[in-house]
Amino acid sequence: MAELLTIGELSGRSGVAASALRFYEDRGLIASERAGSGHRRYAREVLRRVAFIVFAQRVGLTLDEIGEELRKLPGDRVPKRRDWARLSSPWRARIDERIAELERLRDGLTECIGCGCLSLDRCRLANPDDRAARRGAGPRYWVGDMRS
Ligand code: FES
Repeated sequence: MAELLTIGELSGRSGVAASALRFYEDRGLIASERAGSGHRRYAREVLRRVAFIVFAQRVGLTLDEIGEELRKLPGDRVPKRRDWARLSSPWRARIDERIAELERLRDGLTECIGCGCLSLDRCRLANPDDRAARRGAGPRYWVGDMRS
């Protein structure tokens, strides 16, 4: 397999649309070389960066935050395992938070979520007179407040 990938090959292997790859490149998240024809060519290790970008977005990082993270990687060589490990360790808390959030989302689908709608029979017990509104805006039990 060629060391340098065309944008089509990068797209095919990563599952990310070529337009998104160009966008990542415009944002400085990935880089290409220009072939003699002027077409973009990507080093194979860019696949790992793209996977990182996709998953970081799923964890909830913004593209600016992802850019900041990627700038911590060495620019003069292919990042090694320990470089990536350094990047992902602060994510643990964020991922744990996200898991807890998704669990609440899953478990709350049939429960009162404290959103102020008072539309379920359970709301009368879980959120009488929209008591949850005192804690702030939004579905309070979904964002982590306890039902009282
Ligand atoms: S589901 Fe909206 S207040 Fe209970």
